[in-house]
Amino acid sequence: MTKESESYTHGHHESVLRSHRRRTAANSAAFLLPHLLSDMTLLDVGCGPGTVTVDLAERLTQGSVVGVDASDDVLESARGLADAHGTKNITFEHANAYELPFEDDSFDVVFAHQLLQHLSDPVAALREMKRVAKPGGFVAVRDADYEAMTWYPESAELTEWNMLYHEVTHAYGFEPDAGRRLASWVRDAGFDPATIEPGASVWCYATPDDRTWWGGLWAERCTESNFAVQAKDSGLADDVALEQLAQGWREWAAAPDGWFAVLNGEVLARA
Ligand SMILES: C[S@@+](CC[C@H](N)C(=O)[O-])C[C@H]1O[C@@H](n2cnc3c(N)ncnc32)[C@H](O)[C@@H]1O
Repeated sequence: MTKESESYTHGHHESVLRSHRRRTAANSAAFLLPHLLSDMTLLDVGCGPGTVTVDLAERLTQGSVVGVDASDDVLESARGLADAHGTKNITFEHANAYELPFEDDSFDVVFAHQLLQHLSDPVAALREMKRVAKPGGFVAVRDADYEAMTWYPESAELTEWNMLYHEVTHAYGFEPDAGRRLASWVRDAGFDPATIEPGASVWCYATPDDRTWWGGLWAERCTESNFAVQAKDSGLADDVALEQLAQGWREWAAAPDGWFAVLNGEVLARA
């Protein structure tokens, strides 16, 4: 599989976008926020529907933001969001993370949220991010770690879902346990180790509203999203098995003591 033809595991089914649209600068980029100055230029690589991107642009009141993604559909959605917010200092462009269409040393900050786990060569993408960041500028990345996800109550279906997710992503050449590897990838991409600040933070879903949202979207993703297509195409699951996983998610969401934590690795480094 070439880098140009990599197939984003989740795709952009509504159930996937419902997940991404909950993201804000505060809940997804808190590790970067203390370093932002209002006149900075920022590139968001793999910006998806752009909720974090627009939020960042609104903080950079004297600066500007560019969001890039490999999917035209999701870029349309991001542009619509920026229009709805009246955010003027932002543009969205189609681009491949491996070949960013920008000159060397272009941005004060280059950010990628939940992107590297979906790339077969995350180190190459990090080198490209480093190239377009100004010398001394920030490169900031954050990715979940699927093996480290944990939940209550115990559920054979959720355990099976997590194992299947690993099998499918590995079959397509991606690393779902990206969070723990980010610092290593950043080092391999040639960043000065003295500037690398590794960390972690957690999303936790346990209120009735959060459980309905998170469990409901994963139930749908198990049967409707690109993940379901790839699981079936690679012979790792059939419709019956995927429906069982979806049912497990619905049961988890309905459990009054349901609790789910997503551990995210994050790294800030200087270009
Ligand atoms: C999990 S989503 C994250 C979206 C957004 N950063 C967020 O956190 O809401 C990953 C995004 O990366 C994009 N993507 C995947 N491979 C890419 C590539 N090679 N170049 C640019 N974008 C890519 C996908 O289209 C998708 O929108």
